[in-house]
Amino acid sequence: MDRNFAIRGIICYTPGADGLVVRENAYAVCEEGVCRGVFDALPERFGALEVVDCTDRLVLPGLVDLHIHAPQYAYCGTGMDYELMEWLDRVAFPEEMRYADADYAARAYGLFARSLKQSATTRAVVFGTLHVQATLLLMDCMEQSGLVSYVGKVNMDRDAPPELTEESAERSAADTRRFILESARRNYRRTKPILTPRFVPSCTDALMAALGGIRREYGLPVQSHLSENPDEVALVGRLQPEAAFYGDAYDRFGLFGDAGGSAPGLNTVMAHCVYSTPEEVQRLLDNGVWVAHCPSSNMNLGSGIAPVRRYLERGLRVGLGSDVAGGTTESMFRAVTDAIQVSKLYWRYIDREAKPLTFPESLYLATKGGGAFFGKVGSFEDGYAFDAVVLDDSVEPQARRLPAASRLERAFYRELDKNGIAMKFADGERIL
Ligand code: GUN
Ligand code: FE
Repeated sequence: MDRNFAIRGIICYTPGADGLVVRENAYAVCEEGVCRGVFDALPERFGALEVVDCTDRLVLPGLVDLHIHAPQYAYCGTGMDYELMEWLDRVAFPEEMRYADADYAARAYGLFARSLKQSATTRAVVFGTLHVQATLLLMDCMEQSGLVSYVGKVNMDRDAPPELTEESAERSAADTRRFILESARRNYRRTKPILTPRFVPSCTDALMAALGGIRREYGLPVQSHLSENPDEVALVGRLQPEAAFYGDAYDRFGLFGDAGGSAPGLNTVMAHCVYSTPEEVQRLLDNGVWVAHCPSSNMNLGSGIAPVRRYLERGLRVGLGSDVAGGTTESMFRAVTDAIQVSKLYWRYIDREAKPLTFPESLYLATKGGGAFFGKVGSFEDGYAFDAVVLDDSVEPQARRLPAASRLERAFYRELDKNGIAMKFADGERIL
């Protein structure tokens, strides 16, 4: 089908956070991997296109996971009885040490990529470990999966066990350059490198400064963690007393969005933002930084609830992340419903003015909201990259015919991504 086709089905998407479009017996057109819009009848100029018949199937944009840790997938669903800092020491770091072993990395990352391929996720922003060889293996696996992704070699040169602490800022920076150059040499089509300082407690000022320099030199995006847990936030205050707030500790080194210009590829995404102060929120806004809201992780690690309604009201860029394995599932369907459910608790217990997220709003965050990190992604509007998931919900009871929008909502709450994905396309290519 060569990235040129039309899908006929129940086409569902969210052009804005305030509205879900559902069009039955409609056509979504893909030309050279780019969506050309949705039509009730196929316009003559597309008459020669192959039609993929998904009549009565739900067709939605592929989901975007803005924050996931590939090496943590191996223990996903275990080690959940700790808060962040103890969890890192007891659960996450011991696993991440194993990726010094390339055989283990190949095996574990193969399983990770296979799971993502079978999920509803079409794009992901992925943490590896500090190991260059293992992270390149991860990139190979991601490329093969057909998903479009950013993958980061993690930087961490302090406050972890010796096996997981880079020997110096210089060594960490040199390994990062090696990682960037080797990933360019491999000429991936869908897989790109992203700078990945783990979080401020893991990175000395010297390392942060070196990464700021590498970012300017190569024009790379950045991913990290921000204001996830109260003890973490307090620690950052002690480690970088010159920083006005946690996010400023990245911004001081040029690792916090695109403050000055508008060079593409310089996007930054920060996971969590549960405890961002008004000043930090303002800086996130000024610098155009994406917030990756990770409700599953925030529940499991007892981190709290990010005030997503407030962020949307302020006009922040927000997407959703699974944060495996603080999050216990790679399912972005679950991320969508978890985000709604925690927003209801936030509204009930914390802030009665912060209206709960609706299903269309949360779907928007998981598609077009996070998709914008990759460019024109996450919608079936004209000009968007053609990422799509086709769902067959015939496994659900059908005592009466539900409206199509209800079937879509049901698919999310009842986790139809486990057994109901009929097809998946990323960047116009069928990958499932
Ligand atoms: N902060 C620093 N590292 C991590 C991690 O691996 N997971 C989460 N959730 N937060 C972090
Ligand atoms: Fe994380």
